[in-house]
Amino acid sequence: MTARTVHEDVKIEAQKLSVAASSANDCMQRISKLLHERMLKYNWVGFYMIEDSSAAAVLVLGPFQGAMTPHTRIPMHQGICGAAASTGKTIVVDDVSKDPRYLACSLETKSEIVAPVFVRGNVVGELDIDSHFPAAFKDEDRELVEYCASLLGQCMEKYGR
Ligand code: SME
Repeated sequence: MTARTVHEDVKIEAQKLSVAASSANDCMQRISKLLHERMLKYNWVGFYMIEDSSAAAVLVLGPFQGAMTPHTRIPMHQGICGAAASTGKTIVVDDVSKDPRYLACSLETKSEIVAPVFVRGNVVGELDIDSHFPAAFKDEDRELVEYCASLLGQCMEKYGR
């Protein structure tokens, strides 16, 4: 019998949590807590959701785990968060100090991943994770983070926003 990797275990746990969630907000809380607790290099884990009721769409901080960030509202054309949401593509940054788009959240952050959340093919938000370790996000992390983002998308299709 081959042992499952932590990434595989956490995927299974995330799937169970998302099915048990009673709302999209509950799903975000459960998934952010799970990733923060189980993935040792995931030092800040949070969701940003697109608010498009105002004139210009903006990303608004949702449930998160880790230290409070100064970036509670991010315009779509700013930051790594804005780039991921406006292109609908996952962004992995191995060294945030070398990326001119980067908006600093903590001086300790060295690398970051942002994966969009889709509902019926449209980007509605994203899952953002910061690490205190350089190049913390490998292929298996991208797969896990995109999977967790897709679980929220499914939850939002079920419960709405
Ligand atoms: N670093 C992000 C901002 C959000 S904080 O990391 C929580 C960015 O560059 O968009």
